[in-house]
Amino acid sequence: MRLSRYFLPVLKETPAEAQIASHRLMLRAGMIKQASAGIYSWLPLGLKVMRRIEAIVHEEQARAGHVPILMPTLQSSDLWRETGRYDAFGEEMLRITDRGGREMLYTPTAEELVTDIFRANVSSYRDLPLTLYQIQWKFRDEIRPRFGVMRGREFLMKDGYNFDLTEADAMHAYNRHLVSYLRTYERMGLQAIPMRADSGAIGGDNTHEFLVLAETGESEVFYDSAVTELTFGDREIDYDDMAQCQGVLEEFTTRYARTDETHDQAKFEAQVPEERRRSARGIEVGQIFYFGTKYSEPMGATVQGPDGKPVPVHMGSHGIGVSRLVGAIIEASHDEKGIIWPEGVTPFHAGIVNLRQGDPSTDSACEGIYKQLAVEGLEALYDDRAERAGAKFATMDLIGLPWRITVGPRGLANGKIELTSRRTGESEEMAPEAAIARLKDVYGCAAT
Ligand SMILES: Nc1ncnc2c1ncn2[C@@H]1O[C@H](COP(=O)(O)OP(=O)(O)O)[C@@H](O)[C@H]1O
Ligand SMILES: [Mg+2]
Repeated sequence: MRLSRYFLPVLKETPAEAQIASHRLMLRAGMIKQASAGIYSWLPLGLKVMRRIEAIVHEEQARAGHVPILMPTLQSSDLWRETGRYDAFGEEMLRITDRGGREMLYTPTAEELVTDIFRANVSSYRDLPLTLYQIQWKFRDEIRPRFGVMRGREFLMKDGYNFDLTEADAMHAYNRHLVSYLRTYERMGLQAIPMRADSGAIGGDNTHEFLVLAETGESEVFYDSAVTELTFGDREIDYDDMAQCQGVLEEFTTRYARTDETHDQAKFEAQVPEERRRSARGIEVGQIFYFGTKYSEPMGATVQGPDGKPVPVHMGSHGIGVSRLVGAIIEASHDEKGIIWPEGVTPFHAGIVNLRQGDPSTDSACEGIYKQLAVEGLEALYDDRAERAGAKFATMDLIGLPWRITVGPRGLANGKIELTSRRTGESEEMAPEAAIARLKDVYGCAAT
């Protein structure tokens, strides 16, 4: 992409309405524009990051054997009456009446709709296990939408639902989700710690939230500092292997880590040595639930078991805050100059800054690098505007591409360009081919 032809409405001023860094930076970098309270348009740069996050979610869901579907945002109230949630959900549910006077709603979550799909189509235990998921917009009429996309009213969520014959199978689905979520967040450059939480409107006893530690987080959390040393890495996982998934769950959840809703000070003190006790704030980027037959029973979602008798399926649901993650990643990775994208989610793999636009030699060197990167499957944002160097650098620092290639007449006279890491600020002079090789190496198979 050439910046001269892109749509990157960068703001000079810091927007007064934004209270936290991620919100300020998303507005300044031209990633989003508020449409109304808690509802945003996604501008090209913001959309690109969100699409990268979605791609990672889809890849990791596929790896765990989960099947994508897409359900509507507008639903009839009928199904929600079957479970009693039409009334129970309260003011957070946006209710709409169609021209025929039918009560509709904008989906805040989709347990009922997916259970209806299941009961209409699956009748035998032989078709289990099954996990269906979608990435779809949700609406919750939050009283206090704030912090930009972090607590919106309309937001993009990955929501998945497992259907299993027995509690043991459903607990395996729970564990499988926990494992796949660990991988998912790490690929986004995040440490998201599973913490015992409260199940709220979804119901059930078994639930973990995934929290990214950040001062601006809305949740208060208490944990054993040893949990922050755990990493999932690129270990091989067989998602059908119950013992292996259970082992990972134990490794990541045995030590004390809870949100304030389930925090128990006496247990905290009994289980964690004083020097490892931490209380901090965190951003909830996902949650997994097991709730057994809470929805299948009232909705009659049964399968014929091995003995021919109908049994209600055991279910759970699993959510990732896709649009919130864009903000959460920035909260975890920025400095005073702007965003610092982790390589896994960056909107462009590299930026190219031409220090003397219009000079035939720098222009053709930039063009050459830009095209060669594309050949290698790497997408560059080429700042080809007739701006001063300082302004070009400031834009690149603000939008946070992890790597910048700077092309100027002086270096070029020696056949060199400069490769700069946004994270460390370190620059290295090298031949253009060496920079391209380095980037290929950095991104490896991550480049798509
Ligand atoms: N108002 C919101 N704005 C942005 N993301 C949200 C919002 N509410 C929930 N999410 C994201 O969706 C994920 C799954 O939702 P869920 O656990 O049902 O939400 P909650 O715990 O807030 O009721 C959450 O972990 C969070 O990352
Ligand atoms: Mg939650």
